[in-house]
Amino acid sequence: MTFDSKSQLSSDIEKYIDPTLAQEMRNGTAERKVDTLFNYMEKRGQSFYDEVVTQLEHALQCAALAKQNDASSTLITGALLHDIGHIILDEHNADKAFLDTDLSHEEVGAQYMEPFFPETVTTPIRLHVPAKRYLCTTDASYHDGLSEASKRSFIVQGGVMSDKEREAFERIPHFRDALTLRRWDDLAKVKGLESAELETYRDIVQRCFI
Ligand SMILES: [Fe+2]
Repeated sequence: MTFDSKSQLSSDIEKYIDPTLAQEMRNGTAERKVDTLFNYMEKRGQSFYDEVVTQLEHALQCAALAKQNDASSTLITGALLHDIGHIILDEHNADKAFLDTDLSHEEVGAQYMEPFFPETVTTPIRLHVPAKRYLCTTDASYHDGLSEASKRSFIVQGGVMSDKEREAFERIPHFRDALTLRRWDDLAKVKGLESAELETYRDIVQRCFI
Protein backbone atom coordinates (compact mmCIF):
# COMPACT_ATOMS: atom_id res chain seq x y z
CA MET A 1 0.00 0.00 0.00
CA THR A 2 1.25 3.49 -0.73
CA PHE A 3 0.14 6.44 1.29
CA ASP A 4 1.39 9.38 -0.72
CA SER A 5 -1.05 9.35 -3.59
CA LYS A 6 -4.80 9.46 -3.63
CA SER A 7 -6.20 6.02 -3.80
CA GLN A 8 -9.16 5.56 -6.04
CA LEU A 9 -12.30 5.02 -4.00
CA SER A 10 -14.33 2.06 -5.15
CA SER A 11 -17.89 2.54 -6.33
CA ASP A 12 -18.91 0.41 -3.33
CA ILE A 13 -17.61 3.16 -1.08
CA GLU A 14 -18.68 6.07 -3.28
CA LYS A 15 -22.32 5.12 -3.00
CA TYR A 16 -22.21 5.84 0.75
CA ILE A 17 -20.73 9.33 0.37
CA ASP A 18 -23.13 12.17 1.06
CA PRO A 19 -22.56 14.81 -1.65
CA THR A 20 -24.70 17.52 -0.05
CA LEU A 21 -22.04 19.11 2.14
CA ALA A 22 -19.62 19.64 -0.77
CA GLN A 23 -22.42 20.91 -2.99
CA GLU A 24 -23.34 23.54 -0.42
CA MET A 25 -19.75 24.45 0.43
CA ARG A 26 -18.91 25.06 -3.21
CA ASN A 27 -21.07 28.15 -3.22
CA GLY A 28 -20.65 31.29 -1.23
CA THR A 29 -18.07 33.19 0.74
CA ALA A 30 -15.57 31.71 3.19
CA GLU A 31 -17.92 32.74 5.98
CA ARG A 32 -20.77 30.88 4.37
CA LYS A 33 -18.57 27.81 3.87
CA VAL A 34 -17.77 27.67 7.58
CA ASP A 35 -21.48 28.08 8.40
CA THR A 36 -22.31 25.17 6.15
CA LEU A 37 -19.53 22.97 7.51
CA PHE A 38 -20.28 23.70 11.16
CA ASN A 39 -24.05 23.25 10.71
CA TYR A 40 -23.40 19.90 9.10
CA MET A 41 -21.09 18.76 11.88
CA GLU A 42 -23.51 20.00 14.53
CA LYS A 43 -26.43 18.16 12.95
CA ARG A 44 -24.77 14.98 11.75
CA GLY A 45 -22.21 14.66 14.53
CA GLN A 46 -24.68 13.69 17.25
CA SER A 47 -24.37 9.96 16.55
CA PHE A 48 -21.94 8.02 18.67
CA TYR A 49 -18.37 7.42 17.61
CA ASP A 50 -17.86 4.77 20.24
CA GLU A 51 -19.37 3.94 23.60
CA VAL A 52 -18.59 7.23 25.27
CA VAL A 53 -18.45 10.24 22.96
CA THR A 54 -20.38 11.53 19.98
CA GLN A 55 -18.64 12.22 16.69
CA LEU A 56 -18.90 15.95 17.38
CA GLU A 57 -17.51 15.60 20.92
CA HIS A 58 -14.63 13.58 19.52
CA ALA A 59 -13.85 16.24 16.89
CA LEU A 60 -14.04 19.04 19.47
CA GLN A 61 -11.84 17.22 21.97
CA CYS A 62 -9.26 16.53 19.27
CA ALA A 63 -9.24 20.16 18.07
CA ALA A 64 -8.98 21.39 21.67
CA LEU A 65 -5.86 19.27 22.21
CA ALA A 66 -4.35 20.70 19.02
CA LYS A 67 -5.12 24.24 20.16
CA GLN A 68 -3.78 23.65 23.69
CA ASN A 69 -0.56 22.41 22.13
CA ASP A 70 -0.20 25.57 20.03
CA ALA A 71 -0.57 23.71 16.76
CA SER A 72 -0.78 25.62 13.47
CA SER A 73 -4.20 26.68 12.15
CA THR A 74 -3.97 23.99 9.50
CA LEU A 75 -3.27 21.23 12.02
CA ILE A 76 -6.04 22.43 14.33
CA THR A 77 -8.39 22.35 11.34
CA GLY A 78 -7.11 18.89 10.43
CA ALA A 79 -7.76 17.75 14.01
CA LEU A 80 -11.30 19.12 13.91
CA LEU A 81 -12.04 17.47 10.56
CA HIS A 82 -9.96 14.29 10.75
CA ASP A 83 -13.00 12.02 11.08
CA ILE A 84 -15.37 14.00 8.87
CA GLY A 85 -15.28 10.96 6.57
CA HIS A 86 -17.21 8.95 9.17
CA ILE A 87 -19.95 11.59 9.15
CA ILE A 88 -20.00 11.90 5.37
CA LEU A 89 -20.32 8.10 5.16
CA ASP A 90 -22.87 8.09 7.99
CA GLU A 91 -20.72 5.60 9.92
CA HIS A 92 -21.47 5.42 13.62
CA ASN A 93 -21.75 2.78 16.26
CA ALA A 94 -25.52 2.26 15.92
CA ASP A 95 -24.64 0.68 12.60
CA LYS A 96 -23.36 -2.76 13.43
CA ALA A 97 -20.96 -2.89 10.49
CA PHE A 98 -19.13 0.22 11.78
CA LEU A 99 -15.44 -0.62 12.32
CA ASP A 100 -15.90 -4.11 10.90
CA THR A 101 -16.08 -2.90 7.33
CA ASP A 102 -13.46 -0.40 6.25
CA LEU A 103 -14.95 2.35 4.11
CA SER A 104 -11.65 4.29 4.18
CA HIS A 105 -13.10 7.24 6.06
CA GLU A 106 -9.66 8.89 6.13
CA GLU A 107 -9.38 8.84 2.32
CA VAL A 108 -13.02 9.88 1.89
CA GLY A 109 -12.57 12.79 4.30
CA ALA A 110 -9.28 13.94 2.72
CA GLN A 111 -10.57 13.79 -0.86
CA TYR A 112 -13.82 15.46 0.11
CA MET A 113 -11.98 18.37 1.74
CA GLU A 114 -9.30 18.79 -0.93
CA PRO A 115 -11.21 21.36 -3.00
CA PHE A 116 -11.46 23.56 0.10
CA PHE A 117 -8.27 23.12 2.12
CA PRO A 118 -4.49 22.85 1.47
CA GLU A 119 -2.42 19.69 1.84
CA THR A 120 -1.32 20.74 5.31
CA VAL A 121 -4.94 20.13 6.36
CA THR A 122 -5.82 17.16 4.17
CA THR A 123 -2.60 15.10 4.49
CA PRO A 124 -2.93 14.61 8.27
CA ILE A 125 -6.59 13.68 7.67
CA ARG A 126 -5.53 11.15 5.02
CA LEU A 127 -2.70 9.75 7.14
CA HIS A 128 -4.28 9.54 10.58
CA VAL A 129 -5.18 5.87 10.09
CA PRO A 130 -1.81 4.68 8.74
CA ALA A 131 -0.30 6.89 11.48
CA LYS A 132 -1.85 4.53 13.99
CA ARG A 133 -0.31 1.59 12.15
CA TYR A 134 3.04 3.42 12.11
CA LEU A 135 2.91 4.14 15.84
CA CYS A 136 1.82 0.57 16.67
CA THR A 137 4.78 -0.65 14.60
CA THR A 138 7.39 1.66 16.07
CA ASP A 139 6.21 2.07 19.67
CA ALA A 140 5.37 -1.14 21.52
CA SER A 141 3.52 0.59 24.35
CA TYR A 142 1.35 2.58 21.96
CA HIS A 143 -0.94 -0.27 20.93
CA ASP A 144 -1.62 -1.25 24.55
CA GLY A 145 -2.87 2.24 25.27
CA LEU A 146 -5.50 2.25 22.49
CA SER A 147 -9.23 2.03 23.19
CA GLU A 148 -10.94 -1.28 22.45
CA ALA A 149 -12.67 0.20 19.37
CA SER A 150 -9.35 1.50 18.11
CA LYS A 151 -7.65 -1.87 18.63
CA ARG A 152 -10.41 -3.51 16.61
CA SER A 153 -10.19 -1.04 13.76
CA PHE A 154 -6.36 -1.38 13.70
CA ILE A 155 -6.78 -4.95 12.47
CA VAL A 156 -9.35 -3.92 9.83
CA GLN A 157 -7.03 -1.10 8.72
CA GLY A 158 -4.10 -3.40 7.95
CA GLY A 159 -2.27 -4.16 11.22
CA VAL A 160 1.50 -3.84 11.63
CA MET A 161 3.45 -2.06 8.84
CA SER A 162 6.21 -3.76 6.88
CA ASP A 163 9.61 -2.02 6.70
CA LYS A 164 8.79 -0.94 3.18
CA GLU A 165 5.49 0.60 4.24
CA ARG A 166 7.16 2.37 7.16
CA GLU A 167 9.83 3.87 4.92
CA ALA A 168 7.22 4.95 2.36
CA PHE A 169 5.24 6.62 5.14
CA GLU A 170 8.30 8.54 6.35
CA ARG A 171 8.84 10.01 2.89
CA ILE A 172 5.46 11.76 2.84
CA PRO A 173 5.50 15.50 3.56
CA HIS A 174 3.64 16.32 6.78
CA PHE A 175 3.79 12.74 8.08
CA ARG A 176 4.93 13.99 11.48
CA ASP A 177 1.81 16.16 11.71
CA ALA A 178 -0.23 13.03 11.10
CA LEU A 179 1.54 11.25 13.99
CA THR A 180 0.90 14.20 16.27
CA LEU A 181 -2.74 14.33 15.23
CA ARG A 182 -3.05 10.61 15.84
CA ARG A 183 -1.93 10.92 19.46
CA TRP A 184 -4.54 13.64 20.07
CA ASP A 185 -7.13 11.50 18.28
CA ASP A 186 -6.51 8.68 20.77
CA LEU A 187 -6.93 11.02 23.73
CA ALA A 188 -10.08 12.68 22.38
CA LYS A 189 -12.53 10.10 23.70
CA VAL A 190 -13.20 11.29 27.23
CA LYS A 191 -16.77 10.87 28.43
CA GLY A 192 -18.40 14.03 29.69
CA LEU A 193 -15.39 16.27 29.08
CA GLU A 194 -16.45 19.88 28.52
CA SER A 195 -14.91 21.19 25.31
CA ALA A 196 -14.92 24.53 23.56
CA GLU A 197 -17.73 24.70 21.01
CA LEU A 198 -17.37 24.65 17.24
CA GLU A 199 -17.69 28.43 16.99
CA THR A 200 -14.29 28.73 18.75
CA TYR A 201 -12.69 27.45 15.54
CA ARG A 202 -14.46 29.72 13.07
CA ASP A 203 -11.55 32.08 12.38
CA ILE A 204 -8.99 29.27 12.41
CA VAL A 205 -10.90 27.21 9.84
CA GLN A 206 -11.79 30.23 7.74
CA ARG A 207 -8.16 31.27 7.34
CA CYS A 208 -7.24 27.80 6.04
CA PHE A 209 -9.52 27.86 2.98
CA ILE A 210 -7.70 27.83 -0.36
FE1 LIG B 1 -10.68 10.06 15.37
